[in-house]
Amino acid sequence: MVVISILSSIMRRQDYRASTQDLSNKELYKIVIGEVKRRKNLQDTLAKVCLFDKKRTLSLMDIISDSVQPGMKGVDLGAGTGILGFAFLRAGGSYLYAVEHIRDLADLIEDVAAKLDFSSQIKVVREDATTSKFDMNFDFVMSEMVDTGLSQEPIVSAIINIRKYVNPGVIYVPQAALSSITILHGRKQLSAPVVYDNVSMANVSTCVNAMVEIPILKDGIADSARIDTKLIHPNGQETGRFRTLCYAVDVPLYFCVSEGDQKQTLFSKNRITRPIYEGQKILVHINYQYGRSMIGCFTLIN
Ligand SMILES: C[S@@+](CC[C@H](N)C(=O)[O-])C[C@H]1O[C@@H](n2cnc3c(N)ncnc32)[C@H](O)[C@@H]1O
Repeated sequence: MVVISILSSIMRRQDYRASTQDLSNKELYKIVIGEVKRRKNLQDTLAKVCLFDKKRTLSLMDIISDSVQPGMKGVDLGAGTGILGFAFLRAGGSYLYAVEHIRDLADLIEDVAAKLDFSSQIKVVREDATTSKFDMNFDFVMSEMVDTGLSQEPIVSAIINIRKYVNPGVIYVPQAALSSITILHGRKQLSAPVVYDNVSMANVSTCVNAMVEIPILKDGIADSARIDTKLIHPNGQETGRFRTLCYAVDVPLYFCVSEGDQKQTLFSKNRITRPIYEGQKILVHINYQYGRSMIGCFTLIN
């Protein structure tokens, strides 16, 4: 009985070697997550957490399947468990560079690629995606090194680097990112979300430098600002606000009275929450380098 069960499990494992192209994204996801779970020593990295966010991962896999054309050459910057690159190859991509700087994850990608019979179509690059050099130009660029406000992960630097190696008509996933800001009193919204940054991967540069006015719609104590980011993909599909991807981040608002003109600014040393009324406006100057920080300067206009 035990022998039969072991044999059938080996056969099941070998089954997907021959038929990866025929799998659905759900079936491919199940295989990859199964391989990850079997590796008890694999650390709980961000890539693993992202993979376990099924809704996020399947949405991205489906977006990739919908936009790949057969024969395309692709690159996955910050490949993690390799799941997005595998979806790209399953959907008809001809060759994939998977760039991942964590050794255990790079080993995992190579191993799972072999099980899926993708070894001849994949090169795992164990380097920093923001500085890697490539000997090929790409038609399809995936990078989910992305977080709210593009503020901590290095997607923008990696995209700026890869733009030296793309073919005309290249497809980016994500294609664009739209970040917005809302003024809050606790969980209550005192304003509508206002977009402060709308960038496309084809021409994003190193920093955001935006000035936006936020009309106050409800009276309250302005005590925090919510930042969130929506990603736009090929064919206009949108993601974001998942558990692990571009979730809303609430940052405390720090008001202080600056000398002379009674204006209010963010990030003072002494936090003074204060009443704010419908009809007033907050002027926000947001100025930060992507991948480094998230900084804004808030001024109250009476
Ligand atoms: C949020 S995970 C995404 C993994 C996978 N692409 C997905 O969507 O499921 C980002 C991955 O990028 C990798 N990474 C971060 N910075 C990197 C860099 N500078 N060069 C190469 N890989 C990087 C991390 O190790 C991590 O595995």
